Amino acid sequence: MSVTIRSAEPADHARVASVIDGWWGGRRMREMLPRLFFVHFRETTFVAEEGEELVGFLCAFASQTYLDEMYCHFVGVHPVHRRTGLATALYERLFAAAREHGRTVVSCVTSPENTASIDFHRELGFEVVGEIADYDGAGEPRVLLRKRL
Ligand SMILES: CC(C)(COP(=O)(O)OP(=O)(O)OC[C@H]1O[C@@H](n2cnc3c(N)ncnc32)[C@H](O)[C@@H]1OP(=O)(O)O)[C@@H](O)C(=O)NCCC(=O)NCCS
Repeated sequence: MSVTIRSAEPADHARVASVIDGWWGGRRMREMLPRLFFVHFRETTFVAEEGEELVGFLCAFASQTYLDEMYCHFVGVHPVHRRTGLATALYERLFAAAREHGRTVVSCVTSPENTASIDFHRELGFEVVGEIADYDGAGEPRVLLRKRL
């Protein structure tokens, strides 16, 4: 069965929320996934499905402050579907949306210990801008990544 990617709908929030902690290896991520992406940022939030099953998602928005920039908050793929190019395909949808909105930069942050995420983003052409200690609060360092389209 083939995988299809479409823009998110509000009803997708609960589906993504129910899998996100498991897909992140048991880390508590759910609190960082507000419904607003599935309501107010549908043009830049995507879900991937194989039949009825959710197999991937990407949540992003056009920065209100940096008018050349698109910011990706989360990208996740079902463990069974990894290394098949799905996260790349989700990002390709975001890059297309970025170009439509006249955005020339895509940025994101990730945890320093998430080396799979860093390797994946570098493979996609993102550059590591730097690592900032306490970026998201005390003891929450983040690696900043940036790609010019
Ligand atoms: C990171 C993640 C989104 C990658 O998804 P994916 O669909 O497997 O990625 P792709 O198949 O598009 O990978 C493209 C390339 O990125 C690199 N890459 C992807 N996963 C990698 C990993 N675990 N380790 C090293 N490189 C990796 C590879 O070069 C890969 O190409 P290849 O498979 O031909 O070698 C996925 O592992 C995931 O959901 N992880 C948990 C959630 C997470 O950490 N998200 C990122 C932070 S928001």
